[in-house]
Amino acid sequence: MNQLQQPGHDHSSAYLIRRLQELLGPAGVITEASEQEPYLRDWLGKWHGKVSVVVRPANTEETAAVVQLCHATHTPIVTQGGNTGMSGGATPDDSGAQVILSTTRMNRIREVDPVNNTITVDAGVILAHAQEAARQAERYFPLSLGAEGSCTVGGNLATNAGGIAVLRFGNMRELALGLEVVLPDGRIWNGLRGLRKDNTGYDLRDLFIGSEGTLGVITGAVLKLFAQPHARATAWVGAASLQQLVSLLTRVRARCGERLVAFEMMSARSLELVLEHVSDTRAPLESKTAYNALIELSDTEDTGLQAMLEDVLGQALEEELISDAMFTSNQSQTAALWKIREGISQAQVRAGKAIKHDIALPISALPLFVAQAEQALADSGMTTDLINFGHLGDGNLHFNVLLPASTEYEAMKSATAAFNRLIHDLVINFNGSISAEHGVGQLRRDELKHYKSPLEMELMLRIKQAFDPNHIMNPGKLL
Ligand code: FAD
Ligand code: MLT
Ligand code: ZN
Repeated sequence: MNQLQQPGHDHSSAYLIRRLQELLGPAGVITEASEQEPYLRDWLGKWHGKVSVVVRPANTEETAAVVQLCHATHTPIVTQGGNTGMSGGATPDDSGAQVILSTTRMNRIREVDPVNNTITVDAGVILAHAQEAARQAERYFPLSLGAEGSCTVGGNLATNAGGIAVLRFGNMRELALGLEVVLPDGRIWNGLRGLRKDNTGYDLRDLFIGSEGTLGVITGAVLKLFAQPHARATAWVGAASLQQLVSLLTRVRARCGERLVAFEMMSARSLELVLEHVSDTRAPLESKTAYNALIELSDTEDTGLQAMLEDVLGQALEEELISDAMFTSNQSQTAALWKIREGISQAQVRAGKAIKHDIALPISALPLFVAQAEQALADSGMTTDLINFGHLGDGNLHFNVLLPASTEYEAMKSATAAFNRLIHDLVINFNGSISAEHGVGQLRRDELKHYKSPLEMELMLRIKQAFDPNHIMNPGKLL
């Protein structure tokens, strides 16, 4: 029995804080309410909690010491990275009994190995910094999303983040080769093997990816690198229907293969919202179309990408599959198009309160799903301001409903329940998923319970029990 497990020791928060200060020093422990505040709420303003202390360990060993102490004192831990998550996974409850463990001081790039084509990083490294370290080694790390300047690699792994290049490079699970994790009892599991082949039993790494802080604290990762894309071609297209965009996607994919990196969709209303709420944005096309897509090809060298894109879209225009297209001819035009796409999250926050649905369906089913969902919403008399956009190439829609900013908490809660039931029931009818890339967190926890089969729930609860029998890792989230 170690010193922490001595019976009869003082379990009060004063004892905990004193011990944490001994372990981490003043830089690693935040007790001041005003300094804690940014850690206690999410960026969407949906959740707010309370803690006795926020800890910021500087490395894996300090993290292990903190978790060991929390294990001995049965103190629940909410791990937090960049706090950019969409599902309330990193926000504590309001009991005051939980501790936030922020990974942001663990920000070392440990190694870039150009021969193995891997990068090894601390979990608190900001995604954009990992991308930059790869770039400096003339390699490419492809995970890309609107929050890349502030989200962390650990958060990306814990939510199995997706973003705009999944179509070509896969989501975070497909980009991770190895992990280092502090387990709920404080032991360190070193799974930092940068292997592309490893069939030595159950895949522990894949259990931690997407576990949203409920099985342990990810402290390090080995990630895959790729050759740098030196050429790209970008276009914006307008189409009269979602079915037409799906047909276009199929055609571009068949013609351009691996060169197709992004195929992002925005409804007319999503575009309108960005133009209204995000500065320095303007409509790429003169005519307004029901649906828009931002398409990007890239390659390691210029193999006539622009001509290829112009050719495939030109043909689609001739056949009236799409109504209009605009090609960029320099970096600032390309950046302006991406600014529109990446501005949708912010535009929704500025315009009101969004009920978010992060759903995945077979791509072929998307047009019928949207038609049926719109019809069902109209039939049920629910007034809707639908903000439909997403990663069409991955079958991932953000089928959101915007309510006025003045909507009170209780009204928001009951509207969310009603919209969720209607939309998620339909998603399940289409054999889809109610959680594609943002994670379950506290937002979709009850929905998960509602839709997962009892057998799947039982298996997940047994995994949780095996790793974290004291239930100290992010309680109230996911399960
Ligand atoms: P946090 O928000 O801090 O945490 C998220 C979850 O992970 C929590 O449950 C937390 O407990 C857990 N966690 C964090 N770090 C660790 C760790 N080291 N070990 C164990 N658990 C941990 N997501 C997409 O997938 N695709 C998008 O296109 C996308 N676009 C976005 C655009 C904007 C503008 C914003 C703000 C967010 C967007 N997101 C998107 C949400 C996305 O999930 C997060 O940005 C990111 O993956 C979370 O990283 P984070 O470090 O901020 O994690
Ligand atoms: C995005 O794709 O922009 C985000 O994942 C979605 C959102 O803000 O709801
Ligand atoms: Zn998204």
